[in-house]
Amino acid sequence: MDQRLREIIDILSSTKDYVPGTVIARRLGLSRAMVHRLVEELKLLGYIIETHPRRGYRLLVSDDLSLADRYVRDIPGPLKFRVHYVEKCASTQDIAEALARQGVPEGTIVLAEEMSKGRGRMGREWIASKGGLWFTIILRPRKIRYLQLLSLVAGASIVEGIEGFLGVKTMLKWPNDVLYNDLKLAGILVEGRVEADIVDYILLGIGLNVNNNLPSWLKDKATTLANITGRKLPRIPLLRSILYRFNENYKALVEEQYDRITSLWRKYSTTIGSRVRVHLIDGRTIEGLAEDIADDGSLVVKLTNGTRILVYAGDVEHLR
Ligand code: BTN
Repeated sequence: MDQRLREIIDILSSTKDYVPGTVIARRLGLSRAMVHRLVEELKLLGYIIETHPRRGYRLLVSDDLSLADRYVRDIPGPLKFRVHYVEKCASTQDIAEALARQGVPEGTIVLAEEMSKGRGRMGREWIASKGGLWFTIILRPRKIRYLQLLSLVAGASIVEGIEGFLGVKTMLKWPNDVLYNDLKLAGILVEGRVEADIVDYILLGIGLNVNNNLPSWLKDKATTLANITGRKLPRIPLLRSILYRFNENYKALVEEQYDRITSLWRKYSTTIGSRVRVHLIDGRTIEGLAEDIADDGSLVVKLTNGTRILVYAGDVEHLR
């Protein structure tokens, strides 16, 4: 996000009252017309700002996800996003699946304030209390080949979206955990229906810890953006920032610019160059050096005996 936008938000968040345009203009060394333009930009991002002709601008502290749909519709790119909001559900993946079977177009998003049975990778539970961003994007990619890369695209888009919006740098652990100081901030779950090599639908589930409270047993493994920044964050502009990047990167996928995707992922990777233990889905465990990712998104691990293995699915532990 533009530094000037961030500064206006800081000024407006410091009070519950109106702040005159002239005061903001003086503090930032800008003209009043420019302040007005920037405030309009903030509104488009999902901030709710009241304008009064004499008193100036006032930030309304609303973090109402039920309004999200109106702030995602103009995001450019191949996907036309629409948000289907639910206050509480078992898992957004289930609602998205029912919608996908009814034939809704790709780009439809199921967004929940709270989930009682959130699902994680490898059959694990995902804790999703109020205050986080829990959503599933329905996709209908034309080629099966996109599937492995899709989760890399999603991981890189979350990292870019967080950095763009907050200036906070996060990292990716293969295949797509988003980490901050080795603590998990976000996870991605890819499910779907593929028959005879034809993709019917893909459910891309994204869980990002924002303002939610984590249970005590998770605190040495996970963190939230509110913990990192020390303040409660507005989730609509954050969601928008992530979807903005996702649509750009999804375009690269559809246009088969696979190199762009793998290099983007490498840029944010904390796995490449690390010694790793990988728990494969067949129950075996391997150890070695994570050398790179291959063009199809699989992880290249060099074992101690020099053999290279391509890992398509599994759980990676970084060894120190
Ligand atoms: C993981 O890292 O294990 C993946 C976590 C995925 C969580 C998201 S939250 C939205 C969507 N709905 C779910 O039930 N799970 C995914």
